[in-house]
Amino acid sequence: MITRDDLKAVGIGKGITETISTTKGLRFNAAPVGLVNREAIYVEIFRGSHTYKNLMESGEIGINLVYDPVLFVESIFGDLNDDDYYTIDGFPFIKKASAVLKFAVTRIEEKELSSKFFLRLVFKKIRDRRIRGINRGFNLLLELAILSSRREITDEYNKMYPIYSPIIRRCGDERTIEALKFLEFQSL
Ligand SMILES: Cc1cc2nc3c(=O)[nH]c(=O)nc-3n(C[C@H](O)[C@H](O)[C@H](O)COP(=O)(O)O)c2cc1C
Repeated sequence: MITRDDLKAVGIGKGITETISTTKGLRFNAAPVGLVNREAIYVEIFRGSHTYKNLMESGEIGINLVYDPVLFVESIFGDLNDDDYYTIDGFPFIKKASAVLKFAVTRIEEKELSSKFFLRLVFKKIRDRRIRGINRGFNLLLELAILSSRREITDEYNKMYPIYSPIIRRCGDERTIEALKFLEFQSL
């Protein structure tokens, strides 16, 4: 049985936690996803993505807690490298994750553009207990990455880029700046 303490133990509080999900189809897939922890625990995935297809077909999802901004942006636009993954019983997780959780889908609520996949925890593994400080560069990079992944439906990326990017450059570490360059390249 999933308990809130299982999630708390890996730093997942109430609300939405930004993670990288892993799923298995013909190939391993990774994509950023928000894990929702409210009255229920679920992910809401837009139709048309690989994650959507894999989840519908397999009913399994890995949730990886990752603090590497480059992996976040790389996993939006394409595949990660094979050596970014390791497997547990054949299911992919991300090597660099501080913690990984595996969930099974218990119920699907279909909506017009997306579906909610309600989840039951199968197992969790903590890999790295180092404490991370809050970094505005990383936070805003994630914000910009989300807008960048929605560029086909909204122009918010272009609106927010001039506001967020100077703060990302000022507060972020090298990996965050590298991730910003990657986003800039994608938006050319
Ligand atoms: C921080 C972040 C959070 C995201 N959360 C979600 C989400 O909860 N659901 C979703 O469908 N897409 C989300 N996205 C967008 C997907 O990651 C993006 O559409 C991705 O390209 C899907 O990849 P795939 O086709 O490999 O599944 C998020 C993007 C970012 C950067």
